[in-house]
Amino acid sequence: MDVYKAVRSRRAVRAFTDEPVSREVMERVLSAAAWAPSGSNIQPWHVYVLTGGPLVELKRRAGERVAAGDPGDEREYEMYPPALKSPYHERRAAFGKQRYGALGISREDQEARRRIAAANWNFFGAPAGLFCYIDRDLGLPQWADVGEYLQTVMLLLRAEGLHSCLQIGWSVYRRTVAEVLSPPDELILYSGMSIGFEDVSVREDHTGRAPLDETVMFVDSLVARLPEGENPKWQSDHT
Ligand SMILES: Cc1cc2nc3c(=O)[nH]c(=O)nc-3n(C[C@H](O)[C@H](O)[C@H](O)COP(=O)(O)O)c2cc1C
Repeated sequence: MDVYKAVRSRRAVRAFTDEPVSREVMERVLSAAAWAPSGSNIQPWHVYVLTGGPLVELKRRAGERVAAGDPGDEREYEMYPPALKSPYHERRAAFGKQRYGALGISREDQEARRRIAAANWNFFGAPAGLFCYIDRDLGLPQWADVGEYLQTVMLLLRAEGLHSCLQIGWSVYRRTVAEVLSPPDELILYSGMSIGFEDVSVREDHTGRAPLDETVMFVDSLVARLPEGENPKWQSDHT
């Protein structure tokens, strides 16, 4: 699959069929994803892939907590700053409006929102789940490395005809995930991921993106960026 097509066809899919994802495909994807870059090639990702009985057991345990209204475990990192400033606040609000609005759920209807969010802990029906941990001693650049790795996984899944949804939501019930996976204490759960074939009978609107000039600046004219009257050194060197 062409890289542009893989990038544009990747979406957070939140409805999967129960068609299994083979171990062979997952090994191919994760072997290729291992070539994702990382600072000094330290490869800070620790990955667990769940299918079959362990996945069912995790969903059962998490489902019990959700049904009991359990608010989740104490956080090891904040998902967002407490006051999300502009323009991120507006973008987040637009996402919520689109996602819940399409389902006819208002901003005030927190109960309905919770019900929809609960599908996270059922892996949206996906037959495979992935968890990515990072060593708690590592810093921000290594967390970014993990993001690069996970995007590589998601693009490779597209090349296999599979879809995914990255789910930071799993960190809410990280202790339940740990009961099933038994990760070493030095690891922090960054995110889960649902993996499978899309249930095309359940379609969600695609998210949009900010216009390019809101997030990207092309800096190709040094003269234009200097205070008036100030010549760049390279110009005087060559005239
Ligand atoms: C780090 C990260 C965590 C996410 N966590 C969740 C999650 O817990 N549940 C969920 O439904 N979507 C989650 N998403 C999906 C985002 O909402 C989605 O990527 C975003 O709205 C853009 O839409 P798109 O992926 O369909 O292009 C997550 C995405 C990222 C990158």
